[in-house]
Formats: sequence, C-alpha cells, structure tokens
Amino acid sequence: MIRKCLFPAAGYGTRFLPATKAMPKEMLPVVNKPLIQYGVEEARAAGLQHMAIVTGRGKRALEDHFDISYELEHQIRGSDKEKFLSGTRELMETCTFSYTRQVEMKGLGHAILSGQPLIGDEPFAVVLADDLCLNLEGDGVLAQMIALYKQFRCSIVAIQEVPLDQTHKYGIIAGEQIRDDIYRVNSMVEKPKPEDAPSNLAIIGRYILTADIFDLIADTEPGKGGEIQITDALMKQAQNGCVLAYKFKGKRFDCGGAEGYIEATNFCYENLYKKGL
Ligand code: UTP
Repeated sequence: MIRKCLFPAAGYGTRFLPATKAMPKEMLPVVNKPLIQYGVEEARAAGLQHMAIVTGRGKRALEDHFDISYELEHQIRGSDKEKFLSGTRELMETCTFSYTRQVEMKGLGHAILSGQPLIGDEPFAVVLADDLCLNLEGDGVLAQMIALYKQFRCSIVAIQEVPLDQTHKYGIIAGEQIRDDIYRVNSMVEKPKPEDAPSNLAIIGRYILTADIFDLIADTEPGKGGEIQITDALMKQAQNGCVLAYKFKGKRFDCGGAEGYIEATNFCYENLYKKGL
C-alpha cells in the first residue's frame, strides 16, 4: 500500500522574507514545533513510515531536526525538559528519513520529480508542510485520503472551497460530483483569475499520487511563471484515467504567509499547546 510520503521543501518562501532568507520556511515554529514536524506527524499517524524530503540550498536545518543532537540531549537528560524532545525522538525511532536536493527551483512539479529516486515505482503521499492541516475531531487529512485511495486506487488531491477573489493563489478544479465530498476531476487550472476559474474548489497541499505521475511530469513543459506545474501533469492523468478531488474534514492554515501563520499559531496554542498535546 502507501508507505512513503514526499515533502517538497525546496521553495524559496519569498512571502515570508526576511525570516526565510537563511532558514527554511518548513522550520518556522507554530508555537514550539516546526511546520515540517506537524507534517511528518500527520504522515506517521496515517501509517506512513518513510519520509522523503526534497530540500535545496540552505535547508540543512531540516536534516538536523530529525537527527540526534548529542550535546543538547546530554545536557537536558534527566530534567523535565526532556519531554519537549520526546515527540521528535519518537518520529526518529519509528520512521526513516531520506533526502534529495532540487538543484534548480523549477516549481512544485519539478520538485516532485526530483523526489522520484526516493519514491521509486509505487503510489505515495505528498505533503506541503507550509499548509498545516489539523483535524481535532478524527483522522488527519492524509489518513482520510489514504482510506479513499484504498477504495479508488487513483491519484487524489485535497480541496477546499475558497472565496472567488482568492482563486489566483491556487490550482482550481472542476469536476463531476460523485459523493458529497468527492469530485471526479475533469479540468484543472493553475492560479486562474476569478473570471477564468472553473469553480472555487482549490487544491491544497495534500496529494496521493500514483507512480505514473513521474513520466507525466517529465513530459510537462514549464507553465505559469516558467515553473513545471503539478496541476498540468495531474490534468493529463485525469484525461488518461482518473483523478479525484476530496473535500477533507478538518482545518487548513496557509502558513506560507503571515496571516495564516498567525491564525495557526493562535489555534495551536489554544487547542494543543495549552492542553499539553
Ligand atoms: P510555494 O508556491 O509556496 O512557493 O510552493 P515557495 O517558494 O515555497 O513560497 P513563496 O510563494 O515564494 O513564498 C509550494 C510548495 O512547493 C515547494 C515549496 O517548498 C512548498 O512546499 N516547492 C516549490 C519546491 O520544493 N520547489 C520549487 O521549485 C517550488
């Protein structure tokens, strides 16, 4: 089944400059935990054990986060501060972490293709860690999508409704509704103006992809902004076979920008941190 989760984390994070000048945006803390750790926890909770991270220049902190820090750990051993590292340690003990570098930042599609040597020929999940997804009422978003994959065995994108004046920030889908929370995708447009948007259903940073996506990305010409877009490859997959769009249960915060990041911080402080979760 699905064993691996790919984290494209090579982007420049320009919306969060200057914080992201020398630090990966995936290391921005929401309360006391970096975004990448929330993503890895979501993947682990969905039963995935192999974390494949696409990094780039200046992203070494990501690798260090999921490694032992001997001096620090020696220093706090036996103190009540040890508990702050137990979550990270548990992930290190139950998951494997592998890394590859995207040498030129040519877009999300290209970042996913750069991860192919880590994934191989099997279906896999993708998490964009700057989209923080939380479901306090039940399964995480990735777990929900994996349950759907078991039923439908095709690529799945997570979607949410956005205000029409926001469509220019997202890939937007149109499709045939086959269940109240599932659409069969028949069209997909990257960052359309409101007047060109086929709907207000926006793709967010969670995907399940079948391995044929790699050949489709390799055949994709650069699109909007000169980047190789994952939506163009997914569109081909939808035309050749089937791509589903799933309206997930839970909350999603766009932590790639200040507003969503602050909202996420307040939400996590009230609902997780203060409750010791
Ligand atoms: P974004 O569209 O958020 O771009 O990428 P960005 O560069 O990270 O951030 P801004 O817009 O400049 O502030 C979506 C996801 O795709 C990854 C990013 O790391 C992010 O997780 N990505 C994007 C890559 O890994 N490589 C790329 O070339 C582009």
